[in-house]
Amino acid sequence: MFYRLSGIHKAFGEKQVLKGIDLEIEKGETLVILGGSGTGKSVLLRMLIGLIQADSGTILFEGKDITRLREKDYYPIRKRVSYLFQGGALFDSMNVYRNLAYPLREHSKLTHKEILPVVRKSLARVELDNIEHLFPSDLSGGMMKRVALARAIINEPEIVLYDEPTTGLDPLTTKTINRMIRKMQTELKITSVVVTHDMSTANHVADRLAFLEQGRLAFVGTLAEAARSDHRMLRAYLEGGKT
Ligand SMILES: Nc1ncnc2c1ncn2[C@@H]1O[C@H](COP(=O)(O)OP(=O)(O)OP(=O)(O)O)[C@@H](O)[C@H]1O
Ligand SMILES: [Mg+2]
Repeated sequence: MFYRLSGIHKAFGEKQVLKGIDLEIEKGETLVILGGSGTGKSVLLRMLIGLIQADSGTILFEGKDITRLREKDYYPIRKRVSYLFQGGALFDSMNVYRNLAYPLREHSKLTHKEILPVVRKSLARVELDNIEHLFPSDLSGGMMKRVALARAIINEPEIVLYDEPTTGLDPLTTKTINRMIRKMQTELKITSVVVTHDMSTANHVADRLAFLEQGRLAFVGTLAEAARSDHRMLRAYLEGGKT
């Protein structure tokens, strides 16, 4: 098991966002987190790499308590756990090559000659080639997401956290991204946590679903178990996705 979260609480000022989250993340699985806007999905993802700290509760990473570490003690975790930000967040002033080279340069002293094949290999994994010289403004929304994914996996992480990877994309592009998230699991054995509003993404990639509602996980289980659940809000999500 990678993560075990127990009794996680988090408030911002008066606003209690997370009110007791218990969750386990298994090695090799793709876990999808569903929930309405503002329910704390991004906050929860950020906690997994120490970008936000819980007020109470514990987070174990491979059995080690990482709930409240010093900033630099999160670095080794962030090398193994990659975070794909909501919106992709490529550097607009850098071309695709430099965007991908960035995390490589951060962790090692590689030369351009060493970096180029690594960049190309990562782009090939998201089925892109010959775009190293393009700038983010030259790319479609779907290509940007794929480049962001190529950057997220360039250091060969064991876990990728995806924050809304398909929000705002057309159905065909969404399908491509869904297939790639799945491929990260089957071909690269990457464990994934995917936050989404998109039921097509949930249906295509999830081994398990977790449904966040009013600060708690109202449901955690497989897609088949979700289909049998009589939880009203979860049902509304599942049925909404079929239309
Ligand atoms: N750093 C912060 N400071 C203050 N409030 C915050 C901070 N981060 C998140 N919040 C608040 O916590 C709540 C949950 O935010 P979060 O971004 O996790 O929602 P979300 O479920 O990801 O929503 P969406 O689906 O719209 O992305 C929101 O009310 C937000 O305003
Ligand atoms: Mg969010």
